[in-house]
Amino acid sequence: MNLTDELKKALRLRVDYTNATDKYLGKKGFSDAKLNKLRPLAEKAHAYVADNRGKDELFMGWTELPYNQDEIVADILETAKNVREKFDTFVVLGIGGSALGPTMAFNALCHLHYNDLPKAKRNGPRFFVEDNVDPVRMQALLDVIDVKTTCFNVISKSGATSETMTQYLIVSDLLKKAGADLKEHLIFTTDAARGNLVKISNELGGVKSYVLPDGVGGRFSELCPVGLLPAAVLGIDVKAMLAGAAYIDELCKTNDFRANPALLSAVLQYAAMKDGKNVGVMMPYSDNLRFVADWYAQLWAESLGKNVTLKGKPCNAGQTPVKALGVTDQHSQVQLYTEGPFDKIVTFLSVDKYATPFPIPEGCENIPDVGFLGGHTMEELIQAENKATAYALTKAGRLNYTISLPEVNEFTLGQLLYFFELQTAYTGAMLDVDTYNQPGVEAGKKATFALLGKNGYEGQKKELDGAASDPKYVI
Ligand code: PA5
Repeated sequence: MNLTDELKKALRLRVDYTNATDKYLGKKGFSDAKLNKLRPLAEKAHAYVADNRGKDELFMGWTELPYNQDEIVADILETAKNVREKFDTFVVLGIGGSALGPTMAFNALCHLHYNDLPKAKRNGPRFFVEDNVDPVRMQALLDVIDVKTTCFNVISKSGATSETMTQYLIVSDLLKKAGADLKEHLIFTTDAARGNLVKISNELGGVKSYVLPDGVGGRFSELCPVGLLPAAVLGIDVKAMLAGAAYIDELCKTNDFRANPALLSAVLQYAAMKDGKNVGVMMPYSDNLRFVADWYAQLWAESLGKNVTLKGKPCNAGQTPVKALGVTDQHSQVQLYTEGPFDKIVTFLSVDKYATPFPIPEGCENIPDVGFLGGHTMEELIQAENKATAYALTKAGRLNYTISLPEVNEFTLGQLLYFFELQTAYTGAMLDVDTYNQPGVEAGKKATFALLGKNGYEGQKKELDGAASDPKYVI
């Protein structure tokens, strides 16, 4: 993308929070006075993020990713070119932060039926992200790919994640059986020095590897090689994504929450949580942005869902993220949002200009329920439904606000994801929790180790076997 200053400005994302204020919601909305009371806390959160930028020891390396990867990006583009030339299929093996970002970018920036397009129209390898250990899904993947013409990008910081490493064991076994040179078919994205993928790479004689930087946690990793390599393989302009992130970063430099869109969004979410809005709905009105809601759900849930503050005080903080898709979920969940408990804040993601507006043909003129649609475009319809849903929620006294993207492209997606990372970092600081750890995920991981007989977990296995021998069934 040729990103002139004028174009950047035209592609700037916007946050409209009128529907969260008392102007339309009366007492159910936020007054200026109420939001202004949060100013000192917002400024403190902003200072925490600004002062700790780039600090690996605090897992804040993600803030610098738009600026410090020139060499890495050049290398990624070279590798992507080779992959595009040599392989028919590219598969990401990873989970959580290693999978949600690549899925989001693929869905946002590639054709929605990319894998079904003929090769000439795809202009890149078929693409799959495998983030589960459901055996049926694994078999299904293997039924549609040929390992001999597939490149596997194994993404795992630790190289100890059971799900990803199970997938690795399966594909490496198949590659060996097919007589393939593993090194040719594998790319690792992992820790620089530690971790099992480093050992495996050494054993295999040096697998092409990218570094998942020390100070970048999984859910903040989309703008490092975790996300950039798969995106580049798909022909996505990764430099424009990084430029979008840098652009919104610049717009969020001020500590005035009325002028800093990510800080404003954090203040709205924080105020909503304090008002008992324990559910945060993310509702993009765009199929391309559908998986932004999935990616955001992990970012928000894992970062803020904590049981102690940084000072060790019990808190049980966080807000349950709910993913919805406009307009699809108007016919599924909006009834609840409009009339159910007052426990939600809804964030709409709106798009000004869709890639294909798609005209609706005239027809059925004698049937008024249908005839009025002809002559409009699908873009007009989806935008009208977006506006109408926001209006209906507001009329029902429900907190909602809208983040608008002028269009969906690399630059705006880069802005959006960095915006949400900043919003999460600010909100975590306002809640005074450790935004970057995830101790709650460990218990389940350890129990799985025990159940599968990993050495050192014998005690826990006994406990789990005991529980399994005393089931309580209804029937
Ligand atoms: O956000 C996170 O840190 C997690 O979702 C991790 O990305 C996920 O658990 C995978 O871990 P790893 O990269 O070690 O395989």
